[in-house]
Amino acid sequence: MRIEILRGDITTRGVDAIVNAANSSLLGGGGVDGAIHRAAGLELLEACRELRRTQLQDGLPVGAAVATPAFRLPARWVIHTVGPNRHAGQTDPALLASCVRESLNVAAGLGARSIAFPAISAGIYGWDATQVAEVAFDAVRWFSSSVSVRGTEGSPLELVEFVLFSEETTAVFRAVFGA
Ligand code: APR
Repeated sequence: MRIEILRGDITTRGVDAIVNAANSSLLGGGGVDGAIHRAAGLELLEACRELRRTQLQDGLPVGAAVATPAFRLPARWVIHTVGPNRHAGQTDPALLASCVRESLNVAAGLGARSIAFPAISAGIYGWDATQVAEVAFDAVRWFSSSVSVRGTEGSPLELVEFVLFSEETTAVFRAVFGA
């Protein structure tokens, strides 16, 4: 599994799945959530509303992940996950690790071969980019080793991208990932 660190706008990535740093309502917001909804079109909001009407009537829990189609985005799927909000006292790194692991599991379950992550929780939710990068690095390494243990029937995931919106965050992720 190859890991790429790059600066850019995740809505432009032509990978199979892009990860959205959503909130529990799944009904959109600012930051990358707002950018993904704007680029995907209103069908994405309708798909999220349908999830809230059916399997996620109480919203998406912190650390969980769920997929929808990506509609007008170049990607095939959007995997929505809710990162921990430091301003709400959610400071447990295990919650953030769960976002990365569950998103990878959902992507693998879809048969995705490539996935792009933003820096989950490193914006409005107030986490330090270095800690986000360290948690993400460990979670991807765990997933990669658990897949190799599973052997040939493991995940089809070949590429994991981290798409960062600023030069500063990109430099932080490159330093942590040794990229
Ligand atoms: N592409 C890639 N990264 C982006 C983009 C984009 N188009 N837009 C923003 N980012 C970056 C931010 O600069 C930050 O580094 O994504 C990272 C995550 O920031 P947020 O989007 O604020 O996400 P988060 O900190 O997890 O807060 C989630 O914000 O947008 C609301 O509805 C969302 O309530 C939720 C909260």
